Amino acid sequence: MTTKKRVAILISGRGSNMAALIEAAKAPDYPAEIVGVLSNKADAAGLDFARQNGIPTASVSHRDYASREAFDAEIERALTAWAADLVCLAGFMRIFSKDFAERWTGRMLNIHPSLLPKFKGLHPQQQALDARESESGCTVHWVTADLDAGPAILQRRVPVMPGDTAETLAARILVEEHRAYPEALAKLARGEVSYTG
Ligand code: GRF
Repeated sequence: MTTKKRVAILISGRGSNMAALIEAAKAPDYPAEIVGVLSNKADAAGLDFARQNGIPTASVSHRDYASREAFDAEIERALTAWAADLVCLAGFMRIFSKDFAERWTGRMLNIHPSLLPKFKGLHPQQQALDARESESGCTVHWVTADLDAGPAILQRRVPVMPGDTAETLAARILVEEHRAYPEALAKLARGEVSYTG
């Protein structure tokens, strides 16, 4: 079998998408391995799950750095130490400097709980409800220097149900996120998709 792609995951909190990627990567034929998890919050619950699964972790607080560039440089050092080929953002709540984003374009993915390009940014589930959408979903997309604007790789849809709140819709979407992210990463790791700009 060809060499597995080395993947680092960046989180800020719960880490359920991170956990889905870690679980998927346990399959012997999965084309990627998770080589490190970095959080900008030391108390992110996802760090415990990663440690319990024997994955190296790093905690780098953006508050300890004078600039976005300095923080990003520290992230770059961790990625270099892990020899990461690819980066998956999974609920990572920081915006990158242009340089960092451009250096990793084509090697960095994110998952967002809406059918992009609809409902970028914060509270996308509430945005979908406010817009009276009949369906929503999640998007795995390339990360570029513009927030939530990189090309989509894969989407999964869910219905919006009568009486949905942002929480019930988020929970329905999250189930699909946990399927979509491992599937999209596998496609990238196998070379079935590549960034074309
Ligand atoms: C997910 O809904 C993801 O799409 C968004 O942030 C949330 C992170 O959840 N970017 P988790 O930390 O993966 O559980």
